[in-house]
Amino acid sequence: MADAILGKDMKYPLKLLTKHFICLGSTGSGKTVLSKALIEEAAINGIPSIIVDPQGDLASLAIPSVDEKTNKERAELFQSKAEVVVFTPTSSKGIPLCVNPLKLPKKNIYMEDAVSVLNQISSSVTKLIGYDLDKDAGKNAQAVLYLLLHDCWKKEIHLSTFDELSNLVLNLPESVKIEGAAFVNDAKALAQLAKKIKFLTIGEKELMFQSGLQLDIDTLLGKGKDKTQISIIYLNSLETMEEKQFFVSMLATELYQWMLSNPSKELQALFMIDEVSSFIPAGAEKPMAKEILKLIYKQARKYGIGCITGTQNPGDIDYKAFAQFGTWALGRMVTKQDIAKVKTALEAVGAEKAEKALSSLPSLKPGQFFMFCPDLFKDVKEFSVRWLLTEHKTLTDDDVRNIISDETREHYAPYIAVKREGKKEAVKKGNGVLHFPVNISKEEAQKIIEGEKKKLFFFFGPDRENVESLRLVAVPLLRVHAFATKKGLFKDKTERFTVYFDAVDGNLAVLDTEGGIDFFETSKLLSLNETELRVLKEIIDMKDDATHAKISSNLGITETAINDVSNSLMKKHLISFSGRKKEQGRAYLWESVPMKVPLKLKKAVSEQVEAVNVKEEWQEQKPSITEKNILVFLRAWLGAGIEEAEVVYYPYYEAKLFGKKKRRLLKISAVNGKEIE
Ligand SMILES: Nc1ncnc2c1ncn2[C@@H]1O[C@H](COP(=O)(O)OP(=O)(O)OP(=O)(O)O)[C@@H](O)[C@H]1O
Ligand SMILES: [Mg+2]
Repeated sequence: MADAILGKDMKYPLKLLTKHFICLGSTGSGKTVLSKALIEEAAINGIPSIIVDPQGDLASLAIPSVDEKTNKERAELFQSKAEVVVFTPTSSKGIPLCVNPLKLPKKNIYMEDAVSVLNQISSSVTKLIGYDLDKDAGKNAQAVLYLLLHDCWKKEIHLSTFDELSNLVLNLPESVKIEGAAFVNDAKALAQLAKKIKFLTIGEKELMFQSGLQLDIDTLLGKGKDKTQISIIYLNSLETMEEKQFFVSMLATELYQWMLSNPSKELQALFMIDEVSSFIPAGAEKPMAKEILKLIYKQARKYGIGCITGTQNPGDIDYKAFAQFGTWALGRMVTKQDIAKVKTALEAVGAEKAEKALSSLPSLKPGQFFMFCPDLFKDVKEFSVRWLLTEHKTLTDDDVRNIISDETREHYAPYIAVKREGKKEAVKKGNGVLHFPVNISKEEAQKIIEGEKKKLFFFFGPDRENVESLRLVAVPLLRVHAFATKKGLFKDKTERFTVYFDAVDGNLAVLDTEGGIDFFETSKLLSLNETELRVLKEIIDMKDDATHAKISSNLGITETAINDVSNSLMKKHLISFSGRKKEQGRAYLWESVPMKVPLKLKKAVSEQVEAVNVKEEWQEQKPSITEKNILVFLRAWLGAGIEEAEVVYYPYYEAKLFGKKKRRLLKISAVNGKEIE
């Protein structure tokens, strides 16, 4: 991995960021500028960032610099490689972002990780609704919430609203009553807890949970986009410190879970919090995000996540967290007390050699730093930070509104849920698996197969086919609750509908009212990025008339880019060069390989078929396709976003037939008795 060019006299290997980077210095010493330079360099080298911006001066990364100190060439490179998106919780000035604290960990994570996550969620929610965790009432409330969430997690029950959680508090499951005997006997306290949870479903707070794009790490990392994403979470759109803490806590909790399921030895993303001391203060004070941030700083290096942060004084932040930073940049520091604290911190990590820099700290200018990084230098190295490729100023939320392009807004529009309506579907209960009903018995299936054999006899003469085996199989389908937002004259309109994917091979499945199923070959498309999908769709749409120039003008993408994309589509055997050339100039003509895929959302939408949750005896296939795999496809191809997804099994009979010459598999739907093609 390449070096970050931080200044004329400083090339810093990006891979060292997995051991984290901290900027220290008095106000105005240039900490934020240095952090931004690292983010810019990482983006140029393809490393995306998620940034918590408490003061509003990170969001200006979205504005190209016009300063003459800026290196023009590198600034152009940055613009061509990076896309900066500013997210604004509870506000639609930027891209609105919301969190869902009730989204519980995946079932397959380690018990101890699940415990950390559930603990983090329950303590943050308890504080948000106004309890003091140092008092008994707060401790009890947290214990009850923890036990409830743990119970839901174990049983794979998906809670979708705080109303549901509040009702559960009033009707505790037996298992929770037994396990939490010490906390759950006070009916009055429980009623109060339930009521406080209900307060989260109204007013300003509700916006945090229900209005906007659902916080999702892959989305923040720009998965599926061609450019490297820098996602900035602009905290000033939240009103209170408590809400800011809560938001950061939920973001960090999501990131932590994401890390666990996406390990990497190489640096894969950056996570930056500027002015971290209010989130992870020294001493006994415990704001909501403290525990989870400590956990991230401790473990992120194993997962290829580099953390960057800044604070005025090392004495202000938790010393254990501090010890996790492998690189320190020491900027101007004036007071004796501050310097003394740096000295103590340096001694604690055994960095005596850095001490000789301490006496020079008061005379440093803004942008001048000493770097202490044992992996890189024996002692310390002085350097001057280059000027930024983007502007450096503090943005108000109105400024933020103006820097978000229409294109960016349109990109996220299908993802943005206006407000969730009550869920219509059954949830998974207990250990039962959700599946479509088996309406056809084995005997009936046998009769149907006999009929199929007869048909064959009719067409091909004497039938010698025998049924070798017949078994009930269930294929997992990923049921996706999707939505598309259409621009209206006065108001945008959101429609909700259901689409299904075969969770084994990724093909689209469409169900009719009787539960009959039809598959479309979309599996190959799931690995394409957004541009590839859009280009391919154009080519199919244009039949055999697709030239570079036409695709380019329809999609607003340069012809060179179309050229790259069509080459990659050709390598993937999705399109071919049709061999014909138009007379005027170079007009390459493409045609897609024959594909039976729906191009319109309407064709892909399934009927609502009731699923039940009784467990049958059958051979179950393991799902391997997840919501993440289809996210990009759904958006780029069908213009839809995902609200949530779950696995539902589809039962069918699989008969192995063998005749004189060949064997074949016959699949009969156990739902409606029709053959599945
Ligand atoms: N590398 C640099 N080159 C030139 N000027 C710089 C440089 N870095 C910082 N400055 C100047 O110092 C100012 C403050 O920088 P910056 O915002 O990074 O400080 P900070 O340490 O983050 O301060 P605070 O603690 O108040 O957030 C900048 O607006 C700029 O004028
Ligand atoms: Mg700063």
